Amino acid sequence: MFQVPQSNRAMHFVPGPYRKREFRDALGRFATGVTVVTTATADGPVGITANSFASVSLDPPVVLWSIGRHSSRFAAFADCERFAVHVLAADQVDLSRRFARSTVDAFAGLDIEESAEGVPLLSGCLSRFECTRLAAHEGGDHLIVVAGVTGACLRDGDPLVFSRGGYGRFDRFGEGSPT
Ligand SMILES: Cc1cc2nc3c(=O)[nH]c(=O)nc-3n(C[C@H](O)[C@H](O)[C@H](O)COP(=O)(O)O)c2cc1C
Repeated sequence: MFQVPQSNRAMHFVPGPYRKREFRDALGRFATGVTVVTTATADGPVGITANSFASVSLDPPVVLWSIGRHSSRFAAFADCERFAVHVLAADQVDLSRRFARSTVDAFAGLDIEESAEGVPLLSGCLSRFECTRLAAHEGGDHLIVVAGVTGACLRDGDPLVFSRGGYGRFDRFGEGSPT
């Protein structure tokens, strides 16, 4: 089922049971940005680091992300109608680490605003999307949340990149067109 590299050059087919580690490693070759998703709950603001964020539709503006069913923050995000997605800049690794942990009050000491609907907004990110939930779909051990974007803002800067289990920055190959 999975091809596991035995060297840099060869990929070998390995029949047999599902290999979670290899699946994870193969996914890790797909570099992503890093976001922090926030929402308001009766117990206060909640946020979580997420790299499952993706664009879905430009017109109308639609995005998605997925929340792990095993996360202690699952209930907060599975039920929320409104949330905000913050795309992190290369110098915001600390923020990513902070919101990946549940043992700390991740919002302590941060400069927080609130949207008109009461969603906690972090400042200093590369871009930010205010979202209203449209649908949620089963996704194995994650729930896929699809949302309409009601507002967005952005600034210049380099994105934080996540690949092969580590953080890095984007190295642009000149200014040429992607096509
Ligand atoms: C770079 C990065 C990306 C992550 N992406 C996601 C994600 O897309 N969805 C998700 O549910 N958890 C994601 N996580 C894990 C959560 O941030 C969090 O660590 C996990 O849910 C455990 O939280 P808990 O201690 O509250 O259970 C990511 C973590 C890191 C460091």
